[in-house]
Amino acid sequence: MPERFTNRPVLITGSVGGLGQAMAHAFANEGARVVVTGRKEEQGRKLAGYIGNGAIFVRLDVANEASWSNAVQTVEDQLGPIFVLVNNAAYLAVGGVEQVPLDEWRKVIDTNLTGAFLGIRAAAPSMRKNGGGSIVNISSIAGLHGTPGLAAYGASKWGIRSLTRTAAYELARDKIRVNSVHPGIIDTPLAYDPKTGAELVPTGDFAIPRMASVDEIMNYVLFVASEDASFSTGSEFVADGGFALGPILATQAAIPHLPAGGRVISIGSAGAERIVGTPGTVYYMTKSALQSFTRGLAQELGPKDITANLVQPGSTDTDMNPADGESADYQRSLSPLGRFGTPADIAAAVTFLASPAAKHITGSIITVDGGLLA
Ligand SMILES: NC(=O)c1ccc[n+]([C@@H]2O[C@H](COP(=O)([O-])OP(=O)(O)OC[C@H]3O[C@@H](n4cnc5c(N)ncnc54)[C@H](OP(=O)(O)O)[C@@H]3O)[C@@H](O)[C@H]2O)c1
Repeated sequence: MPERFTNRPVLITGSVGGLGQAMAHAFANEGARVVVTGRKEEQGRKLAGYIGNGAIFVRLDVANEASWSNAVQTVEDQLGPIFVLVNNAAYLAVGGVEQVPLDEWRKVIDTNLTGAFLGIRAAAPSMRKNGGGSIVNISSIAGLHGTPGLAAYGASKWGIRSLTRTAAYELARDKIRVNSVHPGIIDTPLAYDPKTGAELVPTGDFAIPRMASVDEIMNYVLFVASEDASFSTGSEFVADGGFALGPILATQAAIPHLPAGGRVISIGSAGAERIVGTPGTVYYMTKSALQSFTRGLAQELGPKDITANLVQPGSTDTDMNPADGESADYQRSLSPLGRFGTPADIAAAVTFLASPAAKHITGSIITVDGGLLA
């Protein structure tokens, strides 16, 4: 593979261990002059020596503004202006909103969010001297979803998304790209409870049911940092093993935990059979797919005494399709009952299918549409 970073100064925060250390090697393998940074000086210096290719170690506490000024000045003196900054350093405190101690909350925000903010602020003037550069902020799937039990960490990783987009806007005309990377669970110490050593997030239910290797994420970050991604800025690059996939996978994940007598109820749409109002092709395709999914599931789960059914609402008064919306009168004219359904109408069908009275119903499609399909 041709080198993408020949002689470019690349500063990676928190690079004495974990993902940061792996990235330091990988950037150097592609010709970069790597700046290993962190608070463990002896280990950092050894690592820089081992990496070679002009790599240096600079002590850097990301939460400290003066430490940043010193680091950037040292890099400029020894290697020239910074070309790539990877904001990778992070601290994780376990605890929900009501549990996490305030000082731990502050430490997480100071390290993960303020650290990245100070890094962008310190590196941008240096990058301008190069005529541009690339900043990659390591967020997480915790920056894309709610993360019960990781209140501070999740908030810091969501904050990074906004910081990334704001900086991307502000720095684009200086040819500095700013993007975020959102890994799923990576096999590093951060993925384990520091006290018990247990996995913080079990990965068995993911579409790819394992942790990411450090190499898988490292290669992705190098791509985002490189000119191969030259038209991307303010973008969120997700590598999550399919964590964010939809209900079919959720069902797959739930099946092993369903006892005999269990119920799977999916919500489709009457529009899968007859398009009304504004056609939404992809939307209705997914709803049609739920019909065959439900019938297949009923066959598969029947021997375990688990039922699978589908409820297909017609025009129902919710935010998605309000009863006073643009095509509402047209939709009403198609229904023999001449009105929209309510969320309670749909809930009644779901509740019935979940009840003991529905134990002999499986593979069925119940349409609650005011007669739309009549
Ligand atoms: N592992 C995962 O499952 C996972 C999943 C999604 C995202 N991520 C993200 O991936 C990135 C790398 O994490 P990792 O898994 O490699 O974790 P890690 O092994 O714990 O590495 C984190 C690094 O950050 C450094 N650090 C912490 N506070 C610092 C500070 N104030 N100043 C400078 N350095 C500091 C640590 O150095 P010290 O040793 O000095 O504390 C350590 O080298 C992080 O942004 C993390 O949030 C990880």
